[in-house]
Amino acid sequence: MKCFRIAPAKSTIPGYRESRRHVLLATPTLIAGFLASPSRLFAALDGAQSNELLDEFISSSNQMAAALKADDSPDGQDAYVRYLTESVAHIDEVSRDNLSKTSWKGFDPGVFLGESGRNQAFFVVHFDLEPGAFLPPHCHPKTSVCTLGIEGSSVLRHFEAENSAPDYKVDRDTEFLVRETRRVQLEAGRISTLTEYRDNIHLFEAGRKGSRGIDVTTDYGGDGSFSFLQFDHENPVDEEKKRYSAKWIGTDI
Ligand SMILES: [Fe+2]
Repeated sequence: MKCFRIAPAKSTIPGYRESRRHVLLATPTLIAGFLASPSRLFAALDGAQSNELLDEFISSSNQMAAALKADDSPDGQDAYVRYLTESVAHIDEVSRDNLSKTSWKGFDPGVFLGESGRNQAFFVVHFDLEPGAFLPPHCHPKTSVCTLGIEGSSVLRHFEAENSAPDYKVDRDTEFLVRETRRVQLEAGRISTLTEYRDNIHLFEAGRKGSRGIDVTTDYGGDGSFSFLQFDHENPVDEEKKRYSAKWIGTDI
């Protein structure tokens, strides 16, 4: 009877933070309004139900994630994202309520983003890529990301800078090498992770049906800045070693 379950807490409906019984007792005016408009009621129930698992994940993982996050070493971040991977894998739907109405950066086909919740350790970014959308390669300074596919399909490719890279904040000229470290067909239930120390650059190419999912994003003390990269991701300069020649281009694209 999944379609009639109601989120126990933190649903996306304003005022719905208690159990179903409490809601019915505490908000008669609201319920009367819904009863006067059955379609509005069912839309609200769908929205509440679809974030149930996500809200559970965010609240139940709070303490453990905060504890694991304290170790920001390469091994510590790997242990942290392994924990997230196990904890987030069962989420099979996320409400669209918080998705932006306009495409991020004006990308066409569109890239729609929204925050779906947060706790002490991380925040959750919901992404919805239109069919054929391309989210260009970008880095995640002092950040780890656990990406879970919800619907549709996209090719998710990860890269790392070879040797040293120029400063992403200021250098728009120096070319440097990036190496492709992983290529994943992101589909419902599939997960891919990056940390501050590995696989830190990624790009998405949505398939014919688009691609929707969540990024569980954890900040390890960065300032929120990042940069896109420009490189010909179809033509490596070294095919055998999957190396590409890249440069930073900032965020104004
Ligand atoms: Fe990203």
